[in-house]
Amino acid sequence: MEGMLKPGSLSGKTIVITGGGTGLGRSMGKYFLELGANLVITSRKIDVIEKTATELMAETGGKVLAVPCDVRKYEEIENVLRQAETTFGQVHGVLNNAAGNFISPTERLSHRAFDIVVDIVLKGTYYTTLAAGKNWIAKKQPGTFLNIVTTYAWTGSGYVVPSACGKAGVLALTRSLAVEWAKYKIRSNAIAPGPFPTEGAWSRLLPGDLVKKFDPAERVPLKRVGEHQELANLAAYLMSDYSAYVNGEVITIDGGEWLRNGGEFSHLESIPDQLWDSIEKNRGK
Ligand code: HXC
Ligand code: NAP
Repeated sequence: MEGMLKPGSLSGKTIVITGGGTGLGRSMGKYFLELGANLVITSRKIDVIEKTATELMAETGGKVLAVPCDVRKYEEIENVLRQAETTFGQVHGVLNNAAGNFISPTERLSHRAFDIVVDIVLKGTYYTTLAAGKNWIAKKQPGTFLNIVTTYAWTGSGYVVPSACGKAGVLALTRSLAVEWAKYKIRSNAIAPGPFPTEGAWSRLLPGDLVKKFDPAERVPLKRVGEHQELANLAAYLMSDYSAYVNGEVITIDGGEWLRNGGEFSHLESIPDQLWDSIEKNRGK
């Protein structure tokens, strides 16, 4: 649960985090600051990002610029990048973390509800990627993208279908540009977190009594949810030069959750030892 990298591992780097005012974006940003990075955080709510910026600067002594932006608006992303360069000189990394999500049977969704999630997750990520990537290429600067997806980007999942479609697109974007833009010294990687408690995710994915009914830890072989620092360690590594040869990778950090729930016989963990004894005794009979 401690920071993993050497002090100063991100020193001199400026990192833009979309959705950086809350939840996992905030936790990853805090660790980037502790490792010496300058931070630019952005989301739709100016009051939230300004408060987070003030708190993070007080907690870490680092520099944080808060710029409001809706990632579905290309010119607002360009403005974030412009302001980041005016303040810090150059952007070195972009963490595409902003997302929208909620649970619903798909047939109950309006087309606007489907749009809103796909637009934040997929359009927001490719707009931010295009704006930052074009800027780096034009200025002949190297850069690093880190995109937050989920494991249902490749398994799919009922009841969060717009999010699954959006995240699958983000994963395809990550792998495609890892190859295409490597010649410009731009790396692209992704992280697929399992359950990490945040207000934003829990309130929308486990609303009301669902949180009592479905304990996310129960689905995880390690029988616990993730600690934010565990994710921050991985994110900082992938943002740092220590991962200079990692490109086009998606790293899962979920305690084995998705494999367990895909495994044909994983449910046999509910068989008690006595029953295994009896099965063993009677084998071949
Ligand atoms: C069905 C819904 C809905 C819901 C909104 N809509 N919430 N439909 N069920 N729960 C519909 C509305 O009726 C409307 O359609 C359309 O969606 C737009 O809704 P608005 O409320 O106007 O949108 P907005 O205020 O912009 O809010 C966007 C949002 C909201 C996505 C709906 O939840 C949000 O701001 N989310 C940001 C943060 C977030 O979601 N964090 C969680 C990420 S967790 P109509 O037809 O009525 O106009 C995550 C974890 C993944 O991604 C993996 C976990 C393991
Ligand atoms: P969160 O706190 O709700 O974070 C989502 C952020 O996205 C918010 O700060 C939100 O800020 C921002 N955002 C939403 N729409 C935006 C828009 N149009 N433009 C700019 N910013 C926007 O939830 P979280 O759990 O930390 O999620 C962070 C990331 O982790 C997401 O990509 C999510 O899919 C992923 N993830 C989370 C979990 C988990 O268990 N928590 C698991 C797997 C993956 P505003 O509302 O102010 O815009």
